[in-house]
Amino acid sequence: MAREKIAKLLGSAEPRENVLIKGWVRTRRDSKGFSFLEINDGSCLKNIQVIADDTLANYEDIRKITTGSAVAAGGRLVESKGKGQSWEIQATVVEIISIAPETFPLQKKRHTDEFLRTIAHLRPRTNKYGAVFRIRSELAYAVHKFFRERGFRYIHTPIITGSDCEGAGELFRITTLAPDQTAVKNGGADFSEDFFGTEANLTVSGQLSAEMLALSLGDVYTFGPTFRAENSNTSRHVAEFWMVEPEMAFCDLAGNMQLGEDLIKFLVSWIIDNCADDLNLFASFVDKTLMPTLENIVSSEFIRLPYTEAVDILDSSGKKFDYAVSFGKDLQSEHERYLAEQHFKKPVILYDYPKEIKPFYMRLNDDDRTVAAMDVLVPRIGEIIGGSQREERLAVLESRIEQTGMSKEPYWWYLDARRFGSVEHSGFGMGFERVLMLVTGITNIRDVIPFPRTPGSIEF
Ligand code: 4AD
Ligand code: MG
Repeated sequence: MAREKIAKLLGSAEPRENVLIKGWVRTRRDSKGFSFLEINDGSCLKNIQVIADDTLANYEDIRKITTGSAVAAGGRLVESKGKGQSWEIQATVVEIISIAPETFPLQKKRHTDEFLRTIAHLRPRTNKYGAVFRIRSELAYAVHKFFRERGFRYIHTPIITGSDCEGAGELFRITTLAPDQTAVKNGGADFSEDFFGTEANLTVSGQLSAEMLALSLGDVYTFGPTFRAENSNTSRHVAEFWMVEPEMAFCDLAGNMQLGEDLIKFLVSWIIDNCADDLNLFASFVDKTLMPTLENIVSSEFIRLPYTEAVDILDSSGKKFDYAVSFGKDLQSEHERYLAEQHFKKPVILYDYPKEIKPFYMRLNDDDRTVAAMDVLVPRIGEIIGGSQREERLAVLESRIEQTGMSKEPYWWYLDARRFGSVEHSGFGMGFERVLMLVTGITNIRDVIPFPRTPGSIEF
């Protein structure tokens, strides 16, 4: 007998002889002459019930099976009389693969998210985290599906780079030098002795490379791990996250905004249509307003609003914010959330930000004060997408690099793209974990990535 997945058996159209499942025991319940085992194999949220009766040769051992143990169960798939279950297995054999001692931390009771973070290696075996990581997988598939259907090419951009795309200095350095060689107190490291002969770091964005591929293949996207040494312990930042970055040739800011809106709507619809069971868990136990929130995102037109007007709205809102707003200041998540959650009650795309608070590569507007930037803000999270039209004019780009205090030399290849066949082009980055927070209603980013990396925390 070949092992089958519980998800498949629970969807069976008819009873079956000789099925075999393997999984982990959630609970065991005994009654006279029978034991009932609830088994989960991770293929879906639901468990399958296995009925083992006292005619089984190892029945004495079956009655010692503990929560967390691994078993294989074979027998007949029969209609279940228990409420809420369609099929159960009448076992002809229950093989105990391994017994989990009573110290298994996930005994049947509710655990807090904080506690579960301390056992990140075991939390995927709970209903909630199993559901999160199944949805995460579906969401990644949906990203590829969306872009493929629109003729985008999937590209891979480097993880180790020599440049700081965002210019924010939040870099993790990569070095093979011994610690004493890198010590700053000895007058700084000699990077010519280092592996690459120069400073290197983990990427903060694949954008600069993606632009080169967009300016040859047309429409491309990269989707990979991204690293930021932001020393802030917030509920929406991690040091290692995944970013989806489309980049399009012959596309302006309006086209870029439309793609962002279409992408978010597609992903949310995909999860509603394909992850009903898992989503229902979040709608019932995590956020009662989840389904209306998601349906509202799918059905509403995203607002498009210049940054300057957003500042006016915030200014005249009469709301007390922790951080004051005025032109030239970056918006905080409290402002972003106010706009999307309370003022407009739907996603908002802010654009034309002051140039001072945005990176060098964004296209300078004719007013000389703002750049063709865009951020997509959604209820409960704030910024989920950040992007822009890119500066395609060589002279303007060079002067922007200089103005921001950076040196032009390392960007010679990036500038080449403006020397040889430069065209209007645009793109953005979407935080994959933030989308997961949106679709699950989970409010802490640490709970949507299996092994979160945050300041001071890298245990698993
Ligand atoms: O707005 P950001 O910094 O944009 C860029 O990096 C551009 N170079 C992208 C591009 O145009 N190709 O980051 C993009 C998105 C943010 O909107 C946010 O969703 C997510 O990445 N993000 C983070 N997610 C989790 N943890 C962090 N520390 C994040 N920093 C950014
Ligand atoms: Mg941003």
